[in-house]
Amino acid sequence: MAKIFANATSSFIFLFNVILISLTLTAAKSESFSRNLSPKTLGLKREKLSHLRFYFHDIVSGSNPTAVPVARASMTKNSFSLFGMVTMMDDPLTVKPEISSKLVGRAQGIYASASQSELSFLMALNFVFTEGKYNGSTLSILGRNSVFSGIREMPVVGGSGLFRFARGYAQAKTHDLDFKTGDAIVEYNVYVFHY
Ligand SMILES: *[C@@H]1O[C@H](CO)[C@@H](O)[C@H](O)[C@H]1NC(C)=O
Repeated sequence: MAKIFANATSSFIFLFNVILISLTLTAAKSESFSRNLSPKTLGLKREKLSHLRFYFHDIVSGSNPTAVPVARASMTKNSFSLFGMVTMMDDPLTVKPEISSKLVGRAQGIYASASQSELSFLMALNFVFTEGKYNGSTLSILGRNSVFSGIREMPVVGGSGLFRFARGYAQAKTHDLDFKTGDAIVEYNVYVFHY
């Protein structure tokens, strides 16, 4: 009787250990894809705030457009706000309003007419910088651009390179709009926190 009891006890202890070990293993497994990290490990020291200013050239006319419509709905032609039109851009960014001034990068992405009541775009684009210390770094913008408003503000949702961990906002102000061709020059002021 005592023997049976002893056996039962040792079986119980064995089972308990098996459960404990598998729980530990499960915990170790769930930890294996994430860990806490000191920002220093990635060389991140102090977060700083930068202001970038440049001019965006949206050229839709002529034989070398930088922005081209890639899709539209059948009702887009009847919509004064071009609702449903999707345009792909690879627009140059320069330091001065003149297209001949120094190129600092490009705006690559999509603008899509997303309003039925006014000309307002969903902007989804990357600013790709090609000049100075920001050469190769990018900033990602996702926002609303109500084209005929004075200053339009769009969130900076992230970045790469020197702009890793970026957050901030971009303000767009039309510098020049050619109503005949549709070409536009837009001043961008971007305020961004990054490391
Ligand atoms: C930017 O980086 C690219 C690729 O590394 C390089 O070819 C180019 O010369 C650089 N431009 C400037 C202005 O430093």
